[in-house]
Amino acid sequence: MTAGRDTVRAWVNEARHIVVLTGAGVSAESGVPTFRDALTGFWARFDPQELATEAAYRANPAQVWRWYQERRAMVGKVQPNAGHLALAAYARQNPGRMSLITQNVDGLHQRAGQADAIALHGSLVQDRWLDAPRNCCEEHELQDGQPPLCATCGNLRRPGVVWFGENLPAEALAAAEQATAECDLMLVVGTSGQVYPAAGLAFAAHQQGARVVVINPETTEIDRIADACLRERSATCLPFLLMESV
Ligand code: APR
Repeated sequence: MTAGRDTVRAWVNEARHIVVLTGAGVSAESGVPTFRDALTGFWARFDPQELATEAAYRANPAQVWRWYQERRAMVGKVQPNAGHLALAAYARQNPGRMSLITQNVDGLHQRAGQADAIALHGSLVQDRWLDAPRNCCEEHELQDGQPPLCATCGNLRRPGVVWFGENLPAEALAAAEQATAECDLMLVVGTSGQVYPAAGLAFAAHQQGARVVVINPETTEIDRIADACLRERSATCLPFLLMESV
């Protein structure tokens, strides 16, 4: 029998350093479809190999660019939800006591006020050059529906996200591993725990002796090492766990 929400709330209050690892489920209640939920998941409608790899982008830059532009426009229309806001409020009220590690690229943690979120998979709202920029790659031209490019050498801009098969940003991963090594409580919220190295952080926390709590309406790959599994939605569970006792 794993611990219930009251016990987990007591664990939060007594914790020295909390790591929160979030996935797409934290943004679901803002209206952002998750990747793998059968009905609404992005991948259910697209083949990830078609869209989220460098090879796919080089093969069909206009199609992939358009898909990211659509996602960028969609996240621009939604707002952070009570889960994002509770995390940001807790971090503000307890400086240095929480590290937020996110797999999400939608920028909603940052828009909720958590600027120091460790973004393992990059950002949907930033672009970068596809190939190493040369002196000529200062300006890039926006073309309707086409990815911007350098008019001189043709270098393309690309979404600032981590694609399948690419390495995670080394600095972000090192910061995530460091926080995981130091924490005594990890909340794993809204992730199916299928993608590494992000999912591996939950196992590393468990191995170093931290308590691990899963917050997810469904079962996940992390459940088997969790000290508690709260079958709840993040926008209601996180405020309960994190809000200062009234
Ligand atoms: N509250 C909490 N969890 C929720 C909610 C909610 N309201 N709604 C859905 N979930 C859960 C689902 O049950 C699922 O376990 O969120 C999880 C979303 O899982 P995925 O769609 O696999 O998303 P995620 O785990 O973030 O994917 C990880 O995979 O495709 C790559 O780079 C992409 O960052 C992404 C990574």
